[in-house]
Amino acid sequence: MRSTDVAIDRGAERAFSDNAALMLRAAGIGKSFTLHGQGGVRIDALADVSLDVQRGECVVLVGPSGAGKSTLLRCLYGNYLASTGSIAIRDTSDQGQPVTITGAEPRDVLRLRRGVVGYVSQFLRVIPRVPTLALVAEPLVLRGVAEHEANARAAALLARLNVPERLWPLAPATFSGGEQQRVNIARGLIAGHALLLLDEPTASLDAENRDVVADLIVEARERGAAIVGIFHDEETRNKVATRRLELRPPLRH
Ligand SMILES: Nc1ncnc2c1ncn2[C@@H]1O[C@H](COP(=O)(O)OP(=O)(O)O)[C@@H](O)[C@H]1O
Ligand SMILES: [Mg+2]
Repeated sequence: MRSTDVAIDRGAERAFSDNAALMLRAAGIGKSFTLHGQGGVRIDALADVSLDVQRGECVVLVGPSGAGKSTLLRCLYGNYLASTGSIAIRDTSDQGQPVTITGAEPRDVLRLRRGVVGYVSQFLRVIPRVPTLALVAEPLVLRGVAEHEANARAAALLARLNVPERLWPLAPATFSGGEQQRVNIARGLIAGHALLLLDEPTASLDAENRDVVADLIVEARERGAAIVGIFHDEETRNKVATRRLELRPPLRH
């Protein structure tokens, strides 16, 4: 580990113990991709992004296409390993200590995903042949909620998102884009995670369902979730944001 990382981590530990509402601290995040198949060309997607998020906050990432918004969310979720900087997340599923995910073991990242961090991407990664109701209930079951209770809560959330009941016993593979997206959102929001990462969850929805999703996000925020999100329409941004963070594409050489 580089000495700068150790310094940042000690600072982060203090920040988390001084501020009980702090859920996430990202400091000096950069991400570069090397395209090995294309002569080793390097793409700098993010440079020196720092961000603190507290419970009850919804930080909306803004900036042009290609600014690195999705890349930042993937770094925060631990899908991408940041090239520089450090990311710490409070482990509310354990003793509430911060876990530095940029250096954590995969099993620690998986524990955080089960108990702390929810992620909704723009597209459902379809899990073949799992019925919709079970797919939505699964994050609750993984957190120890009894199956009948988890199924009842999944049904209520699917109804609120206007997913027709006749679809609940079916796998979402054949659903329309908007139906799949609402299943995806239900699965991401059901467990009441303390930190939510939302990458354009409303992109394929009509205005009515966009409103339902915006209401669900505001409710999550008001019950104390910390949220980082990307939203393609200004109306949703205005409803959910407590703060905006503008990203710009790094200077490319
Ligand atoms: N897996 C990857 N491999 C190579 N380049 C990537 C990868 N993911 C993202 N990028 C590049 O990083 C830059 C930022 O992309 P992205 O984070 O998707 O932007 P945004 O979400 O703001 O539109 C783009 O130039 C994109 O091509
Ligand atoms: Mg994106």
